Amino acid sequence: MAADIAQAVREQWFVVSTDFARVREVQAVIICVPTPLNKNREPDISYILNTGIAIAPHLQRGTLVVLESTTYPGTTDEDLLAVLEKGSGLKAGVDFNLAFSPEREDPGNPSSKVAEIPKVVGGLTPACSQKAQALYGTAIKTVVPVSSCRAAEATKLLENIFRGVNIALVNELKVVYGAMGIDIWEVINAAKTKPFGFMPFYPGPGLGGHCIPIDPFYLTWKAREYGHATRFIELAGEINTAMPEWVINRVAEALNDQKKAVKGSRVLLMGLAYKANVDDMRESPTYVLMDKLVHRGAEVSYYDPYIPVVCPTREHANWTGTQSVEWNEPTVSGFDAVLISTAHACVNYTELALWSPLIIDSRNAMAGLQTKPGQVWKA
Ligand SMILES: NC(=O)c1ccc[n+]([C@@H]2O[C@H](COP(=O)([O-])OP(=O)(O)OC[C@H]3O[C@@H](n4cnc5c(N)ncnc54)[C@H](O)[C@@H]3O)[C@@H](O)[C@H]2O)c1
Repeated sequence: MAADIAQAVREQWFVVSTDFARVREVQAVIICVPTPLNKNREPDISYILNTGIAIAPHLQRGTLVVLESTTYPGTTDEDLLAVLEKGSGLKAGVDFNLAFSPEREDPGNPSSKVAEIPKVVGGLTPACSQKAQALYGTAIKTVVPVSSCRAAEATKLLENIFRGVNIALVNELKVVYGAMGIDIWEVINAAKTKPFGFMPFYPGPGLGGHCIPIDPFYLTWKAREYGHATRFIELAGEINTAMPEWVINRVAEALNDQKKAVKGSRVLLMGLAYKANVDDMRESPTYVLMDKLVHRGAEVSYYDPYIPVVCPTREHANWTGTQSVEWNEPTVSGFDAVLISTAHACVNYTELALWSPLIIDSRNAMAGLQTKPGQVWKA
């Protein structure tokens, strides 16, 4: 990937610029800027609007503008349309083309290729849709047209809500089955042998990443305008948000079993990234786990081979500059407990079993490995 980009830059068919006046030279503009929640958990589409404001004065007749950021239905044909029309004096669907096409990516999956992932496209008018289909058709094997920008925006939200709700379901079942002495991981592995009508989702220590914990609430906010509540989304959010506390209680239980208190114990968090095999730590539940452990008086460190040092973040500035510990026996065995929050494939869990006296495993990373009785606690 990096080599492909380097070659494209060398051959000068990929040019990077911060000069918005260059919008005049192109036939298509794709916007894919962040869509976070503000501190009141309301959608913040200011990045989209500011980008629209920056593009508008340079917009030419016939240009295609496509929004790819995940957002609520109506963002493209109401909010973005308004700033583009105001700043350009042109009319969307008449003088320039406007469409929405959600980004679909599978970070950390080396076999995932963008060209192979079908691309949903919804235009403001049939002509806008055709232009957008033609653009993506040059790079993507299957383009899936839908009737409007809103239908395309709603498609992306459905995909992410579906994940959020199903993850909440297995998180709830993890707790209930755990109380019954049943291992949720064993149950999911058995259930997924059903060749139809079941799709596996896996529990964890809480939701992470910049999509699943955030995007569903874009719909919740917009639904209020129509007088509707999004109860599935709210309930899933409640269950997923409660997971870190449940996991920390398991850490306390496990330490207690070894006649130790959380207060004063040295706890190592394994995996700072929000998911396995990536270096993206946005919205990682590991931060929440670390904060909760510190709040209870533990001495906390982390190990993540993908993240040697914590970069500045908006929400977790207190961890900025903290460094990952080294992976070696004296270091790892010096912790009273190790909490596995993200299970990177490159970590040697056999060594962990040999070195650590107590492991709390929220990812089933220790399954199938030789461990001592009472050494591993599922969480
Ligand atoms: N990363 C993914 O895997 C993924 C997958 C699906 C959907 N999305 C969606 O795509 C959107 C972008 O996500 P991301 O992860 O790429 O975000 P990101 O935080 O990595 O940033 C995207 C880029 O936007 C740029 N930017 C911000 N404001 C700008 C402005 N006013 N003008 C020009 N550029 C500006 C930033 O510099 C950055 O390069 C979000 O809506 C996200 O939900 C991302």
